[in-house]
Amino acid sequence: MKHLNITTKDTKKNMNISEIQKLKREKKAVILVHNYQRPEIQDIADYLGDSLELSRIAAKSDAKIIVFCGVRFMAESAKILSPEKIVLLPREEAGCELANMATKEELMKFKSKYPNACVVSYVNTNADIKAETDVCCTSANAVKVIQGVSAKQIIFVPDRNLANYVQRFTDKEIIPWNGFCYVHDGMKADTAKKIKSSYPDAKLVVHPECQKEMINLADAITSTGGMVKFARESNADKIIIGTEEGMIYRLQKENPNKIFYTIGNARMCRNMKMTTLEDVLLALREEKYRIELPDFILKAAKKSLDRMLEYN
Ligand code: 13P
Ligand code: SF4
Repeated sequence: MKHLNITTKDTKKNMNISEIQKLKREKKAVILVHNYQRPEIQDIADYLGDSLELSRIAAKSDAKIIVFCGVRFMAESAKILSPEKIVLLPREEAGCELANMATKEELMKFKSKYPNACVVSYVNTNADIKAETDVCCTSANAVKVIQGVSAKQIIFVPDRNLANYVQRFTDKEIIPWNGFCYVHDGMKADTAKKIKSSYPDAKLVVHPECQKEMINLADAITSTGGMVKFARESNADKIIIGTEEGMIYRLQKENPNKIFYTIGNARMCRNMKMTTLEDVLLALREEKYRIELPDFILKAAKKSLDRMLEYN
């Protein structure tokens, strides 16, 4: 009976995948998938990557429809960069809790308190914040962006840990927003130390959304795309990964001879895990949920994202 259930489940999964592939071809769609998505979603990706890699692909793509398997700010960025395309977020409610910590009202207060400061926003922000931003950044290029702006004061929105991390690379005054990602901020340095002592030859790689105590312990601090590169290029065959657990699936698949560890119990981003194969199928079939933004937001936010893409 158990065997029968598994077979039925697999058949359904395969049917969903072939229907997704068929609709994708018919509708000239492309599927962009973030590194934290469920394994079965990663497996149907045309492009799998970090926020910066996926933004660059969205900006250049000649597809008619972009299906974005990730969270809302990522799909919004794709729409802002390619406003003529249909951009679909398969789960309407998949937001980023860090992005939701920055409001336009609060940002306007910051701006009037520091009138000469430049606003640098992490892409993990909603579109109305990007529209009030001078230049965006991701975890992959935050240091370069901070070093590149000419202002001496920088309002950095919304992640306080990333703000503190980039402060290490500049004499400019970084004014951090008090936001954080519950997935990364909740990872504890004490737990990382214990794992390191169990596997002394393992390397520790962490995302810059982690707290400074974790960052201080790490052998590398990098975006999820940077982790893919590190795992490929490093001589270490044991790597401890300080980021959302979805990352492990990709790293293990691409590096079958290496062992990857999480820091304590794997931490999951609930919004990243919402999207299922059924959601992607429905998104393609019914062309939902479309990202729509007011024209003035699209135009203003595009400037801050375009400026970011000028950095290598
Ligand atoms: P990356 O840009 O490194 O993929 O990170 C996105 C994110 O949401 C981290 O929590
Ligand atoms: Fe947002 Fe954190 Fe989830 Fe990344 S892991 S999408 S920052 S809540």
